[in-house]
Amino acid sequence: MNKLADSELEKIITLLKQGQLIGLPTETVYGLAADANNITAINKIFAAKTRPQNHPLIVHIPDQHYLREWAYDIPELAYTLVEKFWPGPLTLLLKKHTDINTVVTGGKQTIGLRSPDHPIAQQVLQAFKSGLAAPSANRFCRISSTTAGDVKTELGNKVAYIIDGGSCDVGIESTILDLTQQTPTIVRPGILDAETLSAAINENIIYAEHDIAQTPGNMQTHYAPLTPSHLIEENKTSSLNNNNIAILSFEKPDIVCKKWLKANNNPQQYAHDLYHNLRTLDELNCDAIYISKPPSNESWHAILDRLKRICT
Ligand code: TXA
Ligand code: MG
Repeated sequence: MNKLADSELEKIITLLKQGQLIGLPTETVYGLAADANNITAINKIFAAKTRPQNHPLIVHIPDQHYLREWAYDIPELAYTLVEKFWPGPLTLLLKKHTDINTVVTGGKQTIGLRSPDHPIAQQVLQAFKSGLAAPSANRFCRISSTTAGDVKTELGNKVAYIIDGGSCDVGIESTILDLTQQTPTIVRPGILDAETLSAAINENIIYAEHDIAQTPGNMQTHYAPLTPSHLIEENKTSSLNNNNIAILSFEKPDIVCKKWLKANNNPQQYAHDLYHNLRTLDELNCDAIYISKPPSNESWHAILDRLKRICT
């Protein structure tokens, strides 16, 4: 479903204006959206996710014309990037506008801004004409939602309404690029990688060291299934000697296990399927999930980042 009927859109805008929470499809993952100017609504997001108050929320805006309402001292670089990549899976960290309450920014003087590339998210934002704070629609530290059904499972009793926008195209969270540092720094890798972004601005872009990153989404355990999960070399899966396990690997392992899912060789498709695959394997309540390591080149960077957080 790619377009909301007028009556549904009207109902959603009314709920948002009342300070209610909405399950919102984006191209990356589903968001738990609320009016970014309404402190009571923002606090509902933190409570629903059981997310600590110092973990800032990304504010979603209709388009680049709204940047100045939320950020100040915006570098020219930001405009070059959004011209090219918005709407899209790129969040920019900028200095926050003085009018913006720090509840939404987790107490920080910076703000994460993004314009999502999903027709329904765009429809809602263009009608709302302001910012929607929307973290991924999952309980704190759990797997992000990539379908409306996942949002229902994760937060069904906490939201006023879930919009069904189908399964998310990208499947993993947006790239977060910090433009408040001397050198633009990726604090959360995503499908838009350093090479691609760097080429667009003709400037060096670096990845943050994990232990110095200021981004709580970069905590070591995140996006995690409940089943203990382990990264393993592809050619080692056959040496596993427990049958009550689940495996996600590129080649079929020649051992008996409870469930095997074939990992896709294409990084885009792998990312698209990743959280859905993890949910499927987690639901089996096996002793463990084994995931074979993808290649370690730039196009798998964001996937490897997520897998390292998922696995011990
Ligand atoms: O793709 C996405 O970005 C999804 C969809 C719904 O847009 N949203 C998402 O939000 O992943 P969330 O809250 O699950 O992750 C946002 C990350 C968090 O790790 C947060 O700490 C970081 O962004 N973040 C947001 N604002 C920040 C700020 N001002 N400074 C540092 N980190 C920030
Ligand atoms: Mg999240």
